[in-house]
Amino acid sequence: MATSSERRIPNDGLEMKDFFPVGRGVGVRGPVAEVNPGERDLGRGATYHIETYGCQMNVADSELVRSILNDRGFSEVQDRDTANILMVNTCSIRDKAERKVLSKLSSFRKQKLRLRKDRRPIVCVLGCMAERLKTKLLEEMLLADVVVGPDAYRDLPRLLSIVRDGDSGAKAYNVQLSLDETYADLRPVRTSGNGVSAFVSIMRGCANMCTYCIVPFTRGRERSRPLESIVDEITGLVEAGYKEVVLLGQNVNSYNDISSGQSNMSMTYAPGFKTVYRPPKSGRTFSDLVDAVCRISKDLRVRYTSPHPKDFPQDLIELYKTHRNLPRHIHLPLQSGSDEILERMRRGYTRKAFLELVMQMRSALPDLALSTDIITGFCGESESDHEDTMRLVKQVEFESAFVFAYSQREKTFAARHLEDDVPHETKIRRLQEIGEAWKDTAFSRNSKRVGTVQRVLVEGKSDLKDGSLTGRSEFNTRAFFHSDPSDPEIRPGQFVNVQVDRATTTTLFGQPVGA
Ligand code: SAH
Ligand code: SF4
Ligand code: F3S
Repeated sequence: MATSSERRIPNDGLEMKDFFPVGRGVGVRGPVAEVNPGERDLGRGATYHIETYGCQMNVADSELVRSILNDRGFSEVQDRDTANILMVNTCSIRDKAERKVLSKLSSFRKQKLRLRKDRRPIVCVLGCMAERLKTKLLEEMLLADVVVGPDAYRDLPRLLSIVRDGDSGAKAYNVQLSLDETYADLRPVRTSGNGVSAFVSIMRGCANMCTYCIVPFTRGRERSRPLESIVDEITGLVEAGYKEVVLLGQNVNSYNDISSGQSNMSMTYAPGFKTVYRPPKSGRTFSDLVDAVCRISKDLRVRYTSPHPKDFPQDLIELYKTHRNLPRHIHLPLQSGSDEILERMRRGYTRKAFLELVMQMRSALPDLALSTDIITGFCGESESDHEDTMRLVKQVEFESAFVFAYSQREKTFAARHLEDDVPHETKIRRLQEIGEAWKDTAFSRNSKRVGTVQRVLVEGKSDLKDGSLTGRSEFNTRAFFHSDPSDPEIRPGQFVNVQVDRATTTTLFGQPVGA
């Protein structure tokens, strides 16, 4: 690609303000090239390679980025050595996540410097680290040529085009957060999935401000995508043969579409949540959305992540009885079992309220499997706080848990006002103890499934050397099974009944006994 050595402001109908900081979020540096952002073939066949870190929202965002770039004449390559543009979609949730990405970016830099000047790729950082570190990545750290935050992906074709190549010295960024961007009109390009299960982003941002969490700073204000655009996208997925959707949002069940329509649901909450929860005053809720999505096809499995315990009305639980689309598994992030710590985290519930919600769920759905997220060693966490968490974990009998050592994040309330005073070794020891606690109960719950028949959605061949197939049960447990000799045609996307003959903590093994 050509380079431009002079500093020029494009003569393309844009004004100076389009290239200079609007609220310090957008800008260019160095000899940028002249482009017409309205041009359809802005990419002129330039190739990009994209690597994705972090949560499912990032996986879904990379699919949007593919759609935006492919539509403007860029094309994706799997081989990173041949790409004109190296993109990394990044995560800031913990220090470890950031370090992993920084070492990847340093390796890109080294790779770039080894190449002939005219072959050097553009390095482009997307996602939460782009939002958090902004121009630092361009100027101080010298790790990127283009930096684009989660709400500015529509601007990517223009930004990549004005930088043109990785050796011109030109830099561009757009890290403006938006109040209303939901990318509702875009159709994600799902090249990396299995063709069976698709992520569908239904809301963006987070309004909760848990005191430890960076997400509200990197993803901005909470906003929901119009219900019809979600139903349209999922209808298309069903027509294309998808059998499962995972509705995504940082606080997925606070979904509230205020663009049109009213809720059909009556909102009553588990005891203990009424006092802290303010139900939406107008518009359609998460329960309305789940109900509408389940009605698209009775063969579509409908999952979602991550819900917040404070946003779980009774009507959402009732939907599990009406719609068989909803599998018997809910991810319900607990974070801590100590009231004092929950208060300090500003989670908006007590251990009692959490337990009552679990009881309400299990009285409606006795076999419900629950998974969770827990943070160990948050500011001021004592041994007795940790014991409270251990007791609650055993009592709820989670079937899996993601346990994280607290990592202080700049800008958060905890970083500014609380002391990160639990030693690292203690955080790790508590993390291991919680790991043992949930694994004990998970093993005994999973073992009870030996001898039963489980409905499994087939995803494809497993990584095991024995040629077995793999999929997920109604409880979101991974299942491995061999093809039935009388039905060797079991395919990804099919539901099969698997007779379970063995179980480990998180896995089932068995044989298919028909669809
Ligand atoms: N919005 C989702 C997911 C947030 S990120 C939710 O609230 O459930 C996923 C998990 O990372 C969180 O649930 C929390 O357990 C963990 N996490 C967030 N910030 C953290 C931090 N500063 N240190 C350690 N773990 C953290
Ligand atoms: Fe972070 Fe809390 Fe929002 Fe989850 S709900 S993204 S933990 S602020
Ligand atoms: Fe990470 Fe951002 Fe997701 S911080 S967890 S990629 S929202």
